[in-house]
Amino acid sequence: MGNREHWGSKIGFVLAASGSAIGLGNIWKFPYITGENGGAAFIFVYLICIVIVGLPVVVAEILMGRTTQRNPVGAFKALSGSKFWTAIGGLGVLAGFIILSFYTVIAGWSLGYVFEALKGGFSQLGTAAQANEHFDSLVGDPTWMIGFYTVFFVFTMAVVFLGVKDGLEKGSKILMPILFIILIILMIKGISLKGSGAGLAFLWKPDWSKITGQSILIALGHAFFTLSLGMGALMTYGSYLSKKTNVPNAAVQIVVLDTVIALMAGIAIFTAVFATGQDPAGGPGLIFNTLTVVFGNMTGGYIFGLLFFVLLSVAALTSSMSLLEVVVAYFVDERGWGRHRAVLVLGTLVYAFGLPSALSFNLMADMTINDLTFFDSVDYLASNILLPFGGFFIAIFVAWIWGLDKALIELKKGAEKFFDNQPYLIKVFKIFLKYISPVMIFIVFLHSVGLLESAYEQIKNYWIIIVLAIVILIIIVSRNRKKK
Ligand code: TRP
Repeated sequence: MGNREHWGSKIGFVLAASGSAIGLGNIWKFPYITGENGGAAFIFVYLICIVIVGLPVVVAEILMGRTTQRNPVGAFKALSGSKFWTAIGGLGVLAGFIILSFYTVIAGWSLGYVFEALKGGFSQLGTAAQANEHFDSLVGDPTWMIGFYTVFFVFTMAVVFLGVKDGLEKGSKILMPILFIILIILMIKGISLKGSGAGLAFLWKPDWSKITGQSILIALGHAFFTLSLGMGALMTYGSYLSKKTNVPNAAVQIVVLDTVIALMAGIAIFTAVFATGQDPAGGPGLIFNTLTVVFGNMTGGYIFGLLFFVLLSVAALTSSMSLLEVVVAYFVDERGWGRHRAVLVLGTLVYAFGLPSALSFNLMADMTINDLTFFDSVDYLASNILLPFGGFFIAIFVAWIWGLDKALIELKKGAEKFFDNQPYLIKVFKIFLKYISPVMIFIVFLHSVGLLESAYEQIKNYWIIIVLAIVILIIIVSRNRKKK
């Protein structure tokens, strides 16, 4: 397809891809799981996961996209010609559809809180309990919920409707600097609060006793989610790149930006939380219940509260655009639809599918399967099953099926100097993508579907058989190698 749209510049691509990565995960989720898992020691583990699992898969996804110039389904099809792998790409598109449907619901809360902030709604929140009650009454109101969900969804569709250069790239170039500036202001404000030192100590002074198998898995799973991995979002963005772009370099920039923003959000939030003596382990309500009380009581809280929720909404928008783009790209590339038609039809379908999620906090709160509301179920399906599943197969595919040798030839395009100067890093990358990333992702998968504990029991009972099987497998594989 000679007329495929491309990014106007490398920085445009890096900003858009970082925009996808930086989202609710960084500003809403990262701080609260850090708070729940003990602070600095957890951050340390998280950073290791980002480097050894996140970065190699980021490179793999972007590379598959750039090489094939296709959406995830087309990319797998072009590189493998196999039905199985094409279906793996299809699962990615499906995951994008599902994640978009509930991600925009939380983004709707954020947008709604922009208006709460404008109304001065935080000044009468004295305690976390009051904030919680206020939160429950807002999301418990179907009109409020559907209203902001709809507005946010329309924004998302509008950007994707405009296309790669005029929509995604321009949007990111405007929104990302805004996000950065707001975050710096909030961070400075946080540090300047009396008593903020305790918050900084929480972030930098590790308490190693807090690290457990469980917290390591949470760190690993989050490293994955925060980088938008596992469903071809970065693959789709990579498909609008030309072969001249230095992929390893862009990947490092994206990962660094995502990490820096998460840490900055951590500083902004924990300095404020500790300075006012709130509980850092406030869970998913940390932002809506704890932080709003902080804003309600601080000087300038009106403006800082407003800025914070604008920040959160902007971060969510650059992520939701990337999710919709995956679904749209599939229909454009594989089904020959025009972009506008794809955005209108699929946007509307995802929107409709998201309605039960928006209603899961009010009208449909009691309709549960296995104690999970519709929202919980789709979140679980996508975040705990489809994403680790997809990420595992992407790593395996690039390392073993497409083959690292072929992949490295592609990777070298646009990065010749890097290759000549960093032979050692290339070797490390190979080992990570071939062995370490797939194994670690697989363990996260087992953990998140609740199989890890029972798998552990089985391994304990049958470890001799398992070790023997692995040894035999290695012998068979190495023999076959020699024959070739
Ligand atoms: N990374 C985003 C965040 O941190 C969420 C997100 C956007 C995402 N696109 C994705 C997650 C694709 C997984 C896959 O909020």
